[in-house]
Amino acid sequence: MNQDELKERVAIEAVKYIKDGMNVGLGTGSTMYYAIRYLSERVKNGLNIKCIPTSEKTAEWARTYNIPLTNFSETHHLDVVIDGADEVGPNFHLLKGGGGALLREKIVANATDQFIVIIDESKYVNQLGKFKLPIEIVPFGYEYTIQLVEALGCKATLRQSNDAIYVTDNQNYIIDCDFGMINNPKQLNNQLISIIRVVETGLFIDMANKILVSQSSSGLVEEL
Ligand code: 5RP
Repeated sequence: MNQDELKERVAIEAVKYIKDGMNVGLGTGSTMYYAIRYLSERVKNGLNIKCIPTSEKTAEWARTYNIPLTNFSETHHLDVVIDGADEVGPNFHLLKGGGGALLREKIVANATDQFIVIIDESKYVNQLGKFKLPIEIVPFGYEYTIQLVEALGCKATLRQSNDAIYVTDNQNYIIDCDFGMINNPKQLNNQLISIIRVVETGLFIDMANKILVSQSSSGLVEEL
């Protein structure tokens, strides 16, 4: 079973947690694309929900598939949030932001008591850090911000897109940081967010409640 099929399998399972009348947070990324497509089938069949998207891309997909949207002016609490991840480590700590949506993803995940993360087996790791850690920073003085972050022990690369600096939905920049294996994600996250120019990091500490993992050998979805 290839990775796309595994993403689809786990997305289908996650959508089963969404019930009538719920306010739902929709994550960002290719795994979430499958979730949005399956959710749209259920909406077509009468499921009554309202969703807050974590990116402009997810909002666009939701509109394309006729999924009703809401926002934090109307809704402060979400019954469930479903999102992908780039790595999931022990204690359910996550490394996210490969799709550049980490800030809104963290805001949305913070608005629920039921944050369900959907991954294929390859993303479940013993230690976070093989995937470079995305960090959202303000554009103002970004060259020096990179130096301040690197002083914590990484090599940081300013994310590019089409030969220009990548700009997030919040008009910020992303730096992808190679810290090597991250021994203490909580401590690193605290060190990074104490730099005033750092908006947020892709380390999601103590936020996930449930991890759904699709197994490459069988295609079955395991709940952690
Ligand atoms: C976006 C994210 C995504 O959840 C993460 O990159 C996983 O994406 P995909 O489902 O495409 O593998 O954090 O900011």
